Amino acid sequence: MCGIVGYVGNSSRKEAGHSALDVVVEGLRRLEYRGYDSAGVAVVADGSISSRKKSGKLSNLIAELEADPVPESLTGIGHTRWATHGGPTDQNAHPHLSDGGRLAVIHNGIIENFAELKQELLAKGVVFASETDTEVAAALIGDIFRTEFDGDGANLTQAMRLACQRLEGAFTLLAVHADQPDVVVAARRNSPLVVGLGDGENFLGSDVSGFIDYTRRAVELGQDQIVTITAESVDITDFFGKPAEGKEYHVDWDPASAEKGGFSSFMEKEIHDQPDAVAQTLLGRSDLDGKLTLDEVRIDPELLKQVNKIIVLACGTAAYAGLVAKYAIENWCRIPTEVELAHEFRYRDPIVDSNTLVVSISQSGETMDTLMAVRYAREQGAKTISICNTNGSTIPRESDAVLYTHAGPEIAVASTKAFLAQITAAYLLGLYLAQLRGNIFSGQIKDVLADLSKIPAKIQHILDGAGPLRELARSMKDEKSVLFLGRHVGYPVALEGALKLKEIAYIHAEGFAAGELKHGPIALIDDGQPVFVVVPSPRGRDSLHSKVVSNIQEVRARGARTLVIAEEGDESVKDYAEHVFYVPETPTLLMPLLTTVPLQIFAAELAGAKGYDVDQPRNLAKSVTVE
Ligand code: F6R
Repeated sequence: MCGIVGYVGNSSRKEAGHSALDVVVEGLRRLEYRGYDSAGVAVVADGSISSRKKSGKLSNLIAELEADPVPESLTGIGHTRWATHGGPTDQNAHPHLSDGGRLAVIHNGIIENFAELKQELLAKGVVFASETDTEVAAALIGDIFRTEFDGDGANLTQAMRLACQRLEGAFTLLAVHADQPDVVVAARRNSPLVVGLGDGENFLGSDVSGFIDYTRRAVELGQDQIVTITAESVDITDFFGKPAEGKEYHVDWDPASAEKGGFSSFMEKEIHDQPDAVAQTLLGRSDLDGKLTLDEVRIDPELLKQVNKIIVLACGTAAYAGLVAKYAIENWCRIPTEVELAHEFRYRDPIVDSNTLVVSISQSGETMDTLMAVRYAREQGAKTISICNTNGSTIPRESDAVLYTHAGPEIAVASTKAFLAQITAAYLLGLYLAQLRGNIFSGQIKDVLADLSKIPAKIQHILDGAGPLRELARSMKDEKSVLFLGRHVGYPVALEGALKLKEIAYIHAEGFAAGELKHGPIALIDDGQPVFVVVPSPRGRDSLHSKVVSNIQEVRARGARTLVIAEEGDESVKDYAEHVFYVPETPTLLMPLLTTVPLQIFAAELAGAKGYDVDQPRNLAKSVTVE
C-alpha cells in the first residue's frame, strides 16, 4: 500500500550533497514495490511549503519536478498513494495542504470517522479540494494548529497529538509546517512507520527501504505514538504527550531485500502480510454494536432483500475464495449460491435475472474472463458486486457496488494474501446480507465478527511455528506428485493448496473433495504417495470431522504418506498421520483463513528449495487480461 518518506537534515548534510528532495524521491523509488497509483512531495523552504504531486508513476512526478522545480531544502516529505478514498487523480494524490497552504500532510491508512469530521470542518468554512480522508486529517491538524495555538510556530507536535486523539481507524500521518521549517512530525496507529537515525539527519519511512541508502540504524514506532524529528533529535511520545522510548536496531538487509521486507521473495513477504491483510479488510466495516456498515454496497437494500439467487464469478484462486463464500453465504443467508468459473459462465446461457446477485471476485480487477462475465450478467439485469483488491480497476468500475479487500498490492504472481482477504470480504458480504434480510440474530453476527477479529493473531501464530513444515517441504523437493483432500470448506482449501504447488513448484498436484476419493481418485494412491488432508474442527458437526478422519485412514491403508492440517487439540488424527500441522481453534466456517496458510508456506518453501523463482513462475502473468 502507500509508501511514506520523511527527511530532515542540517547544513553539514547539505555540504555532503544531501537535499530533502533527493532523499525523499530516492526513498519513494525504493518503496515503489508496495504498489501505488500516484506520488507527491512537499518541501519546506523560504518560509513556505512547495508541493508537487502527480497521478501515475513516479516518473510523472519527476518530470513535473523538472518542469517546475521546488526550492532547495533540508526538510521534506514524500508519498506514493494506493487509492482507497477517491480515485487515483492528481487532486487526490498526497500531500494535502491546509492552514492556508502552510501545512502539508501525507497519510497511509484509512480514517474511519472522516465523514463526521469533514462535516464539522465544512461547518467551520473549510473548503476541500479532494475526495480523500487524508485531506480531512490535514484540515483537522491545520484547524487545531491555528485555533488552539493561534499558529504559535512550535506547536505542530501538539496539534498532531490533539488531532490523533480525534481520529479513528488506521493511519500513519506525516506533517510539515512552514512555521517550523526544521521539523517533521509523524503519528502511527495500525499502520507501519520506522524512524531512520542518521548523523546530522533523520528519516522516516513506511519501512526501512525508504531510507536504507542512508542509514542502517532504525527505530520502529509503537502503536499510538507520535515522533518529532529534527536533524539532531528524535522525540517519541504517546498521543497524550507521555514520553516513550524507541528501541534502536540495526538493519542488516541489503537495499534489494529491504523492498521485500527482508524476506527471500515477495511471495514469502505476502504470506507474512496476511495478518495485516485480514485485519485491514475487516477494519471499519462494523460498528461497536456488531452491525455491518458496508457503505460501499450502494445497491438499494430493498433490491438486495429480493435476491433469490447468488452467482459468484471468478477465476483461479479467486474462484476458490468464491467456493468458501458459497458455504458461508448459504449458511448465513439461506440464498442458493452458485460458484462458476467466469470463463465458463456466459457460454452456457445461464439463468440470470433482476433477482440474481452476481458477486465477482478479482484481485486485479482486470481479469478479462471475469470482466466479460460481469458485463454479461449486467446485460441480463443482474445486480453486480465486485470484491476487488485494486482501487479504480475495471471490474469494480463496471459493477453496481464494490467491496474492496485492503490487502495491499500483491506482487508475487501466485496469490496468497489476496485470497485470504477475498474470503474475509466474502464473509462480511454474507453477514451483511443476512443482517439485511434478518436471517440471523445480530448477536450471532457480533459473535462471528469477534471470531474474525481474532484471526490475524492466529495466522501470526501459524507463521511463527512453521519451522517443521518448512523442513518437511525442503525434504520433499523431489516429489513428483502431491494430492490434497478436504471436505466442506476444507475442499476449496485443498484445491488452493494444489494450485499453489503446481504454479510455483511445477509439481503435479490435485485437490479433491475427500468424499470423492472412493469414486475414482483413490486409484492414484500408491506406496509413499504424499497426501495432505485438511481436517475440520472436531468441535463442529460430528459427522464432518469423523468422515475426514476415515478418509485419512483410507489413503493411509493404501500406502499414502499422510500430512494432516488439523485444529489444535485434535488428538484423533495423530495415529493416522505421518505429520500433523496444527492451526488454532476457530469455527469451521472460518477455518480456511487458517488452514490455507500452511499450504502456502509448504509450496513457497518447496519451490524455493528447488531453486525456482517463486515470484515469477514460468508461463504465468499476474493479471490475465486476455480471454
Ligand atoms: C493463482 C492466481 C490466479 C488468480 C486468477 C484471477 O495463484 O493468482 O489463479 O487468482 O488469475 O486473478 P484475479 O484475482 O486478479 O482476477
